[in-house]
Amino acid sequence: MNTKRTRAVSAVPAPPRFDCSVLTYIVGLAFGLGLASTAWGQSPSCPNPPPAIITSSQVPTDVCIPAGFLGNPIQFFDDFSWRSVIALVWPAQQGQRGVPDPNQQVGAVSGPLVFETFKADWELFQPNGADPSPTWNDFAGGNNIAVSNPCGVNVNVGFNDFVLASFSKFINLGQAGFGDLVHALPAQNKTWVRYATAFNQIEFTQIVPNKWYLRQNLPATITFQDGALDVKSAWIDMKDIQRPERYYRRTAWLLDPVTGTCSQKTVGLVGLHIVQKTPSRPQWIWSSFEQVDTVPPQPGAPGPFGFNDGSGQPMPASDPNGGWPPNDVQNPIVFNVQRLKPIHASTQATNSKYQQALGGVWQFYQLVMTQWPVPGNTPQNSGAPRFTFPGRINPGDDTTSFANTTLETWEQNAITTGCMACHNMTRTQTDFLWSLQINAYPPTILLPPGFRALGSAAPMSAAEAEAQQLLKQLKALMKEAQSKQ
Ligand code: HEC
Repeated sequence: MNTKRTRAVSAVPAPPRFDCSVLTYIVGLAFGLGLASTAWGQSPSCPNPPPAIITSSQVPTDVCIPAGFLGNPIQFFDDFSWRSVIALVWPAQQGQRGVPDPNQQVGAVSGPLVFETFKADWELFQPNGADPSPTWNDFAGGNNIAVSNPCGVNVNVGFNDFVLASFSKFINLGQAGFGDLVHALPAQNKTWVRYATAFNQIEFTQIVPNKWYLRQNLPATITFQDGALDVKSAWIDMKDIQRPERYYRRTAWLLDPVTGTCSQKTVGLVGLHIVQKTPSRPQWIWSSFEQVDTVPPQPGAPGPFGFNDGSGQPMPASDPNGGWPPNDVQNPIVFNVQRLKPIHASTQATNSKYQQALGGVWQFYQLVMTQWPVPGNTPQNSGAPRFTFPGRINPGDDTTSFANTTLETWEQNAITTGCMACHNMTRTQTDFLWSLQINAYPPTILLPPGFRALGSAAPMSAAEAEAQQLLKQLKALMKEAQSKQ
């Protein structure tokens, strides 16, 4: 790696707010920053290289870069991503949402995992802007709780349940675009991928008491607190999927987009996005994981794959299912998905380390990429590619994979359609959280007439019409901003 390039990525030493001890930082400063970074790698608090630690059920509070480290800190960010995902796939404590069970280990799958117990988007954003439950530990749609779940009154949602459904029947089939839903993705087994967005307690306690689930209450600027974390996961129906033991599987209430009813099915986790706001990275740290059998790691690699038949037939130039909602929801056109840019070599090395340490089902998951703001501690910077890695700080920064094949299948080409560039469009208003921007009532997602709500084709309300107008304006603004990037 060329030094000039790596230096520019992180010219500043790790500040004392990192979990590295303040002492290390002070000592680092006292002895001058010109010392070889390896000297500081010996620091017990920010080891270099970072070892694969799989025994902590706590999400790290920030990335841990040894003081004085001058290279591209990719291994430290990727380590942060792995430690985060381990805490999020940790078994949850019985009956407690978002709380890991310290008496269990990662890999145990006796009950829900921590991230599966976060508040779902449909719990916060109720039909007609109704109030969600103010209690974190409640389950919307559970007994005696006066808020609904998208599977209807016959499904009683509790601690062990997972709902892959939405109040509008195609919403959770939609892959995200710039403030919109733009594609639906079929797996090789001819079933649609389902997406689920959920929020941690820190976000919940900012969104709910402020009633930000109502558009009229969204202030001009929102700033989430450090530790705010949300996830977006992608799941497939495990019917006919080969080598199922390599997938994290569970039972979920799955909405059938044709009949509009839910039934329990075995689903497998294929993709997982994590975003976390940290003291040093107010533009959040963006991590994305995939199950390893989604697409061929290189052309011609032996399968089977969930989204590629292994024949070598390339990915089509455009979505054969006609975008979102798909042209024919009953008959998905299956095609080969490919990863268009390779996962960074350093990320692959970090993956091997963690996969070996983990064993069990999680060894079949890989980090595709961590995207972070460069440099740290610059809240004034946007999330545009010139301020991010991968990005366009140095030539070649955007040659690595930055998209998840199951979540941004069609956005793999240019870093201007990467996580941060896209979420940056709603940076000021909702602090990068697209889900808040588009779901606050009235929601801005444009649904074709007749597809709006389960079992109803009610005409659009004035408020909805207004929201759609707003979305049009927002999109025009985005186009403009994008052309300036
Ligand atoms: C082209 C635009 C676009 C890109 C690229 C994109 N997202 Fe999103 N993302 C969205 C939209 C729109 C939503 C809201 C709808 C939803 O929840 O699916 C969203 C939702 C999310 C959520 C749920 C909460 C939230 O922030 O709104 C997470 C987490 C997330 N994205 C992470 C990522 C990560 C990580 C990447 C990159 C690997 C990424 N996104 C790339 C548009 C994008």
